[in-house]
Amino acid sequence: MNTAERDTLISAEENRAMFDRIAKNYDAANRAISMGMDKGWRRKTVELLKPFRGGRYLDIGTGTGDLVFEILRQSPNVLVDGIDPAEQMLAIAKDKAGKRRVGDAVSFFPADALDLPMESGTYDGIVSGFCFRNIERRQSALAEMLRVLKPGGLLVILEATYPANPLVRLGYRLYTPLVPIIGKILGGGAAYKYLVDSIEDFPKPETVTDMFSAAGFSGVQFKPLTFGTVCIFSGKK
Ligand SMILES: C[S@@+](CC[C@H](N)C(=O)[O-])C[C@H]1O[C@@H](n2cnc3c(N)ncnc32)[C@H](O)[C@@H]1O
Repeated sequence: MNTAERDTLISAEENRAMFDRIAKNYDAANRAISMGMDKGWRRKTVELLKPFRGGRYLDIGTGTGDLVFEILRQSPNVLVDGIDPAEQMLAIAKDKAGKRRVGDAVSFFPADALDLPMESGTYDGIVSGFCFRNIERRQSALAEMLRVLKPGGLLVILEATYPANPLVRLGYRLYTPLVPIIGKILGGGAAYKYLVDSIEDFPKPETVTDMFSAAGFSGVQFKPLTFGTVCIFSGKK
């Protein structure tokens, strides 16, 4: 797919190779760059999902699996699938699952948001953290997410966003040059320059909620966190 046809700054293949490359230090870089706030953001994302006993859930772009483990922490009696095209990220997720002895409740496997290998109407809810920004055709991905949800199922997407408030933007602009430096120290190199660029390139929250509605989700809303540097988007099938 050429640059004019895709929504992203880099191709799906470049994206997968990049996440495979940074997998080993991804969790440490995440904690450092978010100054430890990423855990709270994931907690709030899963609180909005409201996983219930016996429910079946999907985490798209699961990476090292932290949203999957947060779902299990908030609601232990559920089944969760975590999918991601980057096998090195999945290897870490599987390793963490083994250490946490989550057993059969969790299944991590390679798959792409644009071509989910599940039957329609499989899940009670879907989450996705810091992945949507990386998907080449985001509107098509939303259609695919809607397809695999059961009627009444919720989609909750956590994503980094460029803050709207000019004062916050100033602080953000002062902080972001440090991100590639932190990334470089933790072995991430150019990946963390891409992180900053892709956040600035991502549509504003109101455009994202319009995309949810266009895909057919109802009750669509977004909740800004940490001065709008992160947003949680949600909608119901
Ligand atoms: C920034 S990481 C986020 C990982 C995890 N969700 C978290 O909260 O830390 C983004 C993940 O999305 C995955 N990803 C990128 N494009 C994807 C796609 N088209 N389908 C599924 N996952 C994708 C990447 O491989 C990467 O593991």
